[in-house]
Amino acid sequence: MKILVLNGPNLNLLGTREPDKYGTQTLADIETFVKDEASKLNVEVTFYQSNVEGELVNKIQEAKGNFDGIVMNPAAYTHTSVAIRDAILAVNIPTVEIHLSNIHTREEFRKISLTAPACIGQITGFGANSYKLGLIAINNYLLQN
Ligand code: DQA
Repeated sequence: MKILVLNGPNLNLLGTREPDKYGTQTLADIETFVKDEASKLNVEVTFYQSNVEGELVNKIQEAKGNFDGIVMNPAAYTHTSVAIRDAILAVNIPTVEIHLSNIHTREEFRKISLTAPACIGQITGFGANSYKLGLIAINNYLLQN
């Protein structure tokens, strides 16, 4: 199984960015943590991060035929990006949306995800564990469908 883990804007700053909300692990730390779980599941994981909406759309389009599933933290684009939602629908690759924080307990504008309706499900609020849970969820889904 080949899984793309997509990360949106400002997630490159994890570790120092609002640690009370997003924890102290860097994205590189999370990548190591997720790859450790991936090796147990016999899953191949590729991490990608961009601050640019179009680059995330390009990556989703390029995933067609190259990845079986996507785990994505669209970050702020969760709440704004019709383009990312449409890209997921266009490639029709099973995708799990994840968030470090629980977006439903935060500001009103964060409670709305434009991207989640294009996904098979959403995992939100478990810190770095959301990535691991997202990987387990997509792997189970792909094994069963
Ligand atoms: C986030 C939540 C978003 O609202 C925010 O813009 C982020 C991170 C999370 O992982 O909790 O950048 O996606």
